[in-house]
Amino acid sequence: MARETKFPHLLSCTLLFLLLCCSSSLASPHAMDFLQPLLRTQKGNLTQGLSKLKSHLSRLGYLNTNTIHKPHDDLFDDALQQAVTDYQSFFSLPPTGALDAVTLAHMGKPRCGVPDVFRPNSSAHYSFFPGQPKWPAGRRHLTYSFPPGTRADAHKAILDATNMWASVSPFTFSSTNNYNAADIKISFQYRDHGDGSPFDGSGGILAHASAPTDGKMHFDGDERWVDGVVGGAFDLQTVGLHELGHVLGLLHSQDGGASMFPQVGSGIRKGLNKDDIDGIRALYSF
Ligand SMILES: *[C@@H]1O[C@H](CO)[C@@H](O)[C@H](O)[C@H]1NC(C)=O
Ligand SMILES: *[C@@H]1O[C@H](CO)[C@@H](O)[C@H](O)[C@H]1NC(C)=O
Ligand SMILES: [Zn+2]
Ligand SMILES: [Zn+2]
Repeated sequence: MARETKFPHLLSCTLLFLLLCCSSSLASPHAMDFLQPLLRTQKGNLTQGLSKLKSHLSRLGYLNTNTIHKPHDDLFDDALQQAVTDYQSFFSLPPTGALDAVTLAHMGKPRCGVPDVFRPNSSAHYSFFPGQPKWPAGRRHLTYSFPPGTRADAHKAILDATNMWASVSPFTFSSTNNYNAADIKISFQYRDHGDGSPFDGSGGILAHASAPTDGKMHFDGDERWVDGVVGGAFDLQTVGLHELGHVLGLLHSQDGGASMFPQVGSGIRKGLNKDDIDGIRALYSF
């Protein structure tokens, strides 16, 4: 009897093992997978996934949440078409309002979770938070800190990124072990982490930070991070440099070469360019 039950048991173990293996390699779910079925949907369409696009575009500042009518509002309405048009304008894509392949591929690229500000008539590429919040005159030295146990390569990456901002601005930076007292609090967070801007797992949103003088800076812990240039991983220094720009008061730039451009690829390291430096100069008048 024992022999007879042994084989089916082994078989189900094997099946379970295969199932687990396959589902983890097959799925490897990407935060922006919801975009693909939306290809060529248009005004009037009721398509599952449009509600996800709406909440994504509203987090990025392109859609007012009060135009979203219910939790699963999957209707392609005028507001969504306008939001898609504004998105395309920000990124210099043809402003058609259509979810074509180029637009969907663009929306699928990894990026910062801080909203873009749509300024179609601006000659400069950099931008500031609404109301231009900045650190007051007496605060040009900022301390930063990580919670205990934070990966060591993040310390080095942020040290280098703070040095880069210090070299082009009146700011100086130093690290402190006193996390609660630090001006800039840097941590790795996962999914919903209590600040109203949940991360989304692998891909999609990589990090976010808050305007002066809050000093919050969060990395999405579900991404592959590295301090350096490694295919398939995001550079802590590059993304840290960008998020520090927010902490100092810069918003997103439409200049693809700027550190403050909203998107960043894996395996890429970027520094500060002229637009970033023009932006910090304009904000702090030096
Ligand atoms: C979307 O709307 C267009 C025009 O009304 C229609 O031809 C098309 O079948 C709709 N597609 C879906 C997926 O509902
Ligand atoms: C740009 O937009 C702002 C805000 O809407 C407006 O006040 C300003 O007049 C515009 N400038 C030009 C040149 O259109
Ligand atoms: Zn950003
Ligand atoms: Zn956060």
